[in-house]
Amino acid sequence: MKKEFLDLGRQPIANKFLNKEDFDDEFFFDLKVCWDEETKLVSIKDFVEPERIFNDDYPYHTSNSFPMVKHFKDAAEMLKKKFNPKNVLEIGSNDGPFITNFDKETSVCVEPCGNFSLKTAHMGYQSYTSFWTTELSEKIKSHHGKMDLIYAANCICHIHDLDDAFSAVANLLSDDGVFVFEDPSLLKILERGSYDQIYDEHPHIFSVTALNNLLRRSGLTLFRVDNLSVHGGSNRIYAAKGNVEVEQSVADNLIEESIFGINHFQTYEIFAKRVKDSKDELLRCLGNLRHNGKKIICIGATAKSTTVFNYCGIGPDLIDLITDTTEAKQGMFSPGSHIPVVDRKSVNLNDYDYAFLGAWNFKDVIANKEREFVENGGKFITHVPKIIMLS
Ligand code: TYD
Repeated sequence: MKKEFLDLGRQPIANKFLNKEDFDDEFFFDLKVCWDEETKLVSIKDFVEPERIFNDDYPYHTSNSFPMVKHFKDAAEMLKKKFNPKNVLEIGSNDGPFITNFDKETSVCVEPCGNFSLKTAHMGYQSYTSFWTTELSEKIKSHHGKMDLIYAANCICHIHDLDDAFSAVANLLSDDGVFVFEDPSLLKILERGSYDQIYDEHPHIFSVTALNNLLRRSGLTLFRVDNLSVHGGSNRIYAAKGNVEVEQSVADNLIEESIFGINHFQTYEIFAKRVKDSKDELLRCLGNLRHNGKKIICIGATAKSTTVFNYCGIGPDLIDLITDTTEAKQGMFSPGSHIPVVDRKSVNLNDYDYAFLGAWNFKDVIANKEREFVENGGKFITHVPKIIMLS
């Protein structure tokens, strides 16, 4: 049975930055979150149709994020060394920062956003503009044969029907092949109170516990877990067909999650209370600063900040501007909250007293880039793990 524990209110599509003319037609949905007693999976109650999210306008270019480009290069090198795959398929290849570390002749990309699949196709990679389904895995198998390595980053948790997604992997994976995927960790979200990682694109938030249950249903064995620091804490999951040796990291993660209370509904009720307190505290903090005439900017027009701003009811009355390095977001307005998004280069940060970290997961990178702001008395505000000001 699915039990609801959190209501994040009316939310827009988290990455749908928009023009003023489109404000009146903006799409909103109810963002409620449930826990499944049987599988222990945490999911959004009412999914948003994927075509509304992943289309040719999708603005998240992974290659714009320098730390993520390095992360994927390192991941590719590690996987080559460890498994020496003859061929590789990436599900959700975005604009190619992972797959481009592999040979064009032996690599296949799957990506529903046409703007990105065209890009990898132009680079010479076999690219399928499609969602990941069993039907597609059949088609790829007939054209390219079975795959030694199937990889996905921040993508599997986007897929509504996980049983179909995992069966599609089992269908295409060679007998001694490996399926590696990474997504934000539910445990880290619960520990850090980072409720902003819940939005339309993440219909599921994975614990190792739930994945262990779900992968088994499709004949896959979860045999290793790497705990990563990206996206505020992610898990890299390794699975294979049949009876493979299960490494100690799996038991370690299952035990850690069990001790935290992943298997008990009460844990989620406590989290929901923390989220509500975080909202009250953030509104109090920003409201007081504004009342005292302070100017507040936000760094990073993230999907995460869409959840925060819409849940808390934060708009241009509290935050003047958002800066973002992604060109496709610049000159647009943030979803739902309608705060203008601008190029960082067009702003003198010293004109502002406080900078809210929309991209709190890149706190160290941003603090390092913006040393002058701090030297001039500027302060950062973050809401993770609680509302604090940093200088
Ligand atoms: P990410 O944290 O991956 O966000 P999401 O919640 O959307 O998954 O993306 C970081 C965003 O922040 C991205 O749009 C680029 C932007 N950014 C900056 O504007 N400045 C920076 O210094 C960094 C590191 C990121």
